[in-house]
Amino acid sequence: MAALLLLFLFLFASSALSQDSLIGVNIGTEVTNMPSPTQVVALLKSQNINRVRLYDADRSMLLAFAHTGVQVIISVPNDQLLGISQSNATAANWVTRNVAAYYPATNITTIAVGSEVLTSLTNAASVLVSALKYIQAALVTANLDRQIKVSTPHSSTIILDSFPPSQAFFNKTWDPVIVPLLKFLQSTGSPLLLNVYPYFDYVQSNGVIPLDYALFQPLQANKEAVDANTLLHYTNVFDAIVDAAYFAMSYLNFTNIPIVVTESGWPSKGGPSEHDATVENANTYNSNLIQHVINKTGTPKHPGTAVTTYIYELYNEDTRPGPVSEKNWGLFYTNGTPVYTLRLAGAGAILANDTTNQTFCIAKEKVDRKMLQAALDWACGPGKVDYSPFY
Ligand SMILES: *[C@@H]1O[C@H](CO)[C@@H](O)[C@H](O)[C@H]1NC(C)=O
Ligand SMILES: *[C@@H]1O[C@H](CO)[C@@H](O)[C@H](O)[C@H]1NC(C)=O
Ligand SMILES: *[C@@H]1O[C@H](CO)[C@@H](O)[C@H](O)[C@H]1NC(C)=O
Ligand SMILES: *[C@@H]1O[C@H](CO)[C@@H](O)[C@H](O)[C@H]1NC(C)=O
Ligand SMILES: *[C@@H]1O[C@H](CO)[C@@H](O)[C@H](O)[C@H]1NC(C)=O
Ligand SMILES: *[C@@H]1O[C@H](CO)[C@@H](O)[C@H](O)[C@H]1NC(C)=O
Ligand SMILES: *[C@@H]1O[C@H](CO)[C@@H](O)[C@H](O)[C@H]1NC(C)=O
Repeated sequence: MAALLLLFLFLFASSALSQDSLIGVNIGTEVTNMPSPTQVVALLKSQNINRVRLYDADRSMLLAFAHTGVQVIISVPNDQLLGISQSNATAANWVTRNVAAYYPATNITTIAVGSEVLTSLTNAASVLVSALKYIQAALVTANLDRQIKVSTPHSSTIILDSFPPSQAFFNKTWDPVIVPLLKFLQSTGSPLLLNVYPYFDYVQSNGVIPLDYALFQPLQANKEAVDANTLLHYTNVFDAIVDAAYFAMSYLNFTNIPIVVTESGWPSKGGPSEHDATVENANTYNSNLIQHVINKTGTPKHPGTAVTTYIYELYNEDTRPGPVSEKNWGLFYTNGTPVYTLRLAGAGAILANDTTNQTFCIAKEKVDRKMLQAALDWACGPGKVDYSPFY
């Protein structure tokens, strides 16, 4: 009997762990008292989180992740992008110092080259793909290209007319970058990295997008958004954005590039005008997001295709500039206390409800008027779509 129980517990734990690998967290470091790398790793372990994204390739963090089983995305910061894009040698040196020095003890799985370059560093857009190719060439030389993927995270705002998803396309300004980028991702078997923020879509929609739709809350059947071109039913904004990206790629004839969501989350606190940045909404969003992802529900366009997702973010970043909400996207305070208790039900939960330790296992765009217009067009505009969801 005891043996059976143990076996059951073992199976349960392993299945929880394998599900767990679909969810990661971003580790931003704009904090007054950054916990030590050892403390960060201990927190992740206590929460069964085994995927992280770093915004750089910090030496002490990479050393701390050695032999932990944690899969790590490291980043080429935007301020190093130009140098790398100009020289194979600079790229090779970067890979030697920041990748080869730690791999395989530290399981570096992906190099994110730059961050939202097309929307935050437009003058580097023309060299972005060169930078990826140089990093890739350096990995080939180091014989690490089969183990480590190279890509670059984008803001979802480069996708226009996202509602309905079937009509979405990449901002054509960036086709000279996007087309070679997608060719590169396809030829190297790398994912498109996308930052997905239903919070901003919701806030900018001025009430057009229902809060429940942004928060993955159940909608009445007749409130689901129907894409009239595909007849696909959308029950949440997250799926609509991810599908918009799939459709935007297929519009350019790329149909086999997977999507990884490098950032998604909801702020738990905001300034006087940020009414929806609340603990309740943040908890609802992140709890539902995690369950949606580990359920392997996929999206209406690709049901059953899991979308690995990195929560933005592990810690509240108290020294980030900008509105109050900008400092309050974290699941934890830097002292390791959870900001709120995620509501994760049953066997699907990857985050243990460990009341003794008060732990609960388990990305920040600027306001974009274009998204607002797209949402308004979908909800109120003329034409093909079933507008009922938003009335
Ligand atoms: C990294 O993690 C992946 C997924 O668990 C695993 O398949 C791979 O063998 C790991 N690589 C190293 C070097 O640990
Ligand atoms: C330099 O980079 C290109 C990719 O753009 C690659 O084909 C070439 O092999 C690289 N050369 C060296 C010496 O790494
Ligand atoms: C497309 O991108 C360009 C360059 O960033 C920008 O100026 C333009 O406003 C974007 N178009 C739309 C419709 O968002
Ligand atoms: C995609 O493929 C179709 C059919 O082969 C072709 O007509 C179209 O021009 C292609 N579009 C692009 C952007 O390459
Ligand atoms: C997860 O899947 C179960 C069973 O298929 C379903 O009952 C539940 O609603 C799903 N939860 C989410 C958040 O998608
Ligand atoms: C955690 O467990 C306690 C005690 O069993 C329960 O009251 C609480 O609702 C649980 N919290 C979550 C988030 O599941
Ligand atoms: C609580 O945390 C301590 C120290 O991290 C650990 O040794 C202990 O096993 C944890 N308790 C539970 C119930 O997980």
